[in-house]
Amino acid sequence: MSRIPQSFIDDLMARVDVVEVVGSRVPLKKAGREFKACCPFHGEKTPSFTVSPSKQFYHCFGCGAHGTALGFLMEHDHLDFVEAVEELARQVGVEVPRETGGSSPRAGEDLYATMARASEFYAQGLRDSPAAIKYLKQRGLGGETAALFGIGYAPDAWDALLSRIGKDEAGIKRLTDCGLIIEREQGGWYDRFRDRVIFPIRDARGRTIAFGGRIMGSGEPKYLNSPETTLFHKGRELYGLYEARQALRDISRLVVVEGYMDVVGLAQAGIRYAVATLGTATTQEHLRRLFRVTDTVIFCFDGDRAGRQAAWRALENALPTLEEGHQIGFLFLPEGEDPDSLVGKEGADAFAARLDQALPLSDYFLDQLSAQVDMDTLDGRARMAELARPLMRRIPEGIYRDLLTRQLAERVGMEPHQLAQRMVDDRPEPPGFRPATRGAARPPNPRSSLVRQAIALILHHPQAAATADIPERLVDVDFKGMPLLMELLEISASNPDISPAGLLERWRGRPEQPHLLQLAASEALVTGEAAPTVLADTLVRLVAQAGPERRTEFLLEKARGEGLDEAEKDELRGLLQRSTTVAASEGNATD
Ligand code: UTP
Ligand code: MN
Repeated sequence: MSRIPQSFIDDLMARVDVVEVVGSRVPLKKAGREFKACCPFHGEKTPSFTVSPSKQFYHCFGCGAHGTALGFLMEHDHLDFVEAVEELARQVGVEVPRETGGSSPRAGEDLYATMARASEFYAQGLRDSPAAIKYLKQRGLGGETAALFGIGYAPDAWDALLSRIGKDEAGIKRLTDCGLIIEREQGGWYDRFRDRVIFPIRDARGRTIAFGGRIMGSGEPKYLNSPETTLFHKGRELYGLYEARQALRDISRLVVVEGYMDVVGLAQAGIRYAVATLGTATTQEHLRRLFRVTDTVIFCFDGDRAGRQAAWRALENALPTLEEGHQIGFLFLPEGEDPDSLVGKEGADAFAARLDQALPLSDYFLDQLSAQVDMDTLDGRARMAELARPLMRRIPEGIYRDLLTRQLAERVGMEPHQLAQRMVDDRPEPPGFRPATRGAARPPNPRSSLVRQAIALILHHPQAAATADIPERLVDVDFKGMPLLMELLEISASNPDISPAGLLERWRGRPEQPHLLQLAASEALVTGEAAPTVLADTLVRLVAQAGPERRTEFLLEKARGEGLDEAEKDELRGLLQRSTTVAASEGNATD
């Protein structure tokens, strides 16, 4: 939704000083090359909060809080992104340019207009398609609901939209920038969405910023979505939020569901307060948005394993947003049902009654933790308190945390004040700890994969990417983490002046950001002068490692299927031996 040009954010991040920004709100003490303070985000008596002028970055070893100057303002002053940018701009004395209006280019405006035209084109497509209307009817949707959500249909042709708005060069450019057409390898373009029911995704102001398209029969993919564009950032948007705000004056609660059809199906049944994340986990940014319009958020998940996992992730992300007055509930649906199917079967009242009974976050949290230990033993109860500790520390200090501490104390049979003392105890968590469900806290692997090394190197020295030789065959490497590495390389190579903090800001709201922040916070092992050479060398080693890796995969797959001949067996044995030695010296691929 950011209408502030990316280049401005890059510049801003290069100009502000994180030490100044943090220092104006928290008393900092110089300690070597860095600055220290007691962390403003969790209670502590000895400082584990550090600010690094060289990395333009803060990090708390106690609670894991970390980020750039911009992130600090958002967290500390509770500002949203645009407000934080404005505050920083004010501090360095520059004006925030807007892509809409004024003297700056009308590019953003143009894209919104193009999206609006496309949306209208698809809506007409629906009116003209008896088959699509029939499909929606079969799914229980009436014309009124379809109109409320602007549902449309993309005709079954390669160039329906293209020939409508992409006739000249400028039109093609706009459609490309909107992610609505795709360039052919042999030249020419074609429509991204064809023969699909179209769900426009709108921003808070109701402007269409992306589309999701559902296939009407069976086929893959079931849903096709717009790519990330200047208008659309997946980790930030919530499908249905605009429509909910249009429908209701006061939103007493919002339900987070998984799919477009769940939102629309619930609305059809009269439940107008559902929103969906777009195929991603619920981020903190999502939650902040939700809590700006309501006090109560209920997550709705499938009752299966994947649903439970998603629920726990949502809980983890929700902890930092818990404040007095914010309520979060969890509703697990019967196996095999989603909100759309269930509301169709049992009606809105029964569904709303389920929502009334949603499990409060505190119960879900404590139930999950106690299920991991033996609560009948003293030892088990002590362990539960230990499991809870790193998670509790992510909750902002205040009544909510106090109440939860009290409940936890009751369960483990401790005096609340004793427990509270242990909860804010200054023992730092090992950096990079994982939540309790994925095994108890353990120290990070000291050896890290080449992909991780390369990513950390770019985060510390983005300029290295602009000067380093990048091996051509890198594009064929498909280790875990490669798309992220490629994107980092591309952005830093094409923006040679970008700062580490500016680079990190590109990932705001995306699921990879916490991981990147963590890598950025790691110690820089290489100097700026050496960085291009080391980067080039790391990439060359990556390419070299990828060859045998792929062959191994192939042979393993074949061994499981049709089987291997003797020569292949020998080859695989050799490869496996080699890969264990490589793994031992390199560590595993990034997660
Ligand atoms: P589901 O597969 O649960 O579909 O995907 P659904 O919402 O129940 O849809 P219907 O009822 O079959 O039409 C949930 C969400 O995951 C994303 C979409 O956002 C979808 O709404 N998704 C799913 C995709 O992006 N692509 C896919 O191929 C599938
Ligand atoms: Mn469904």
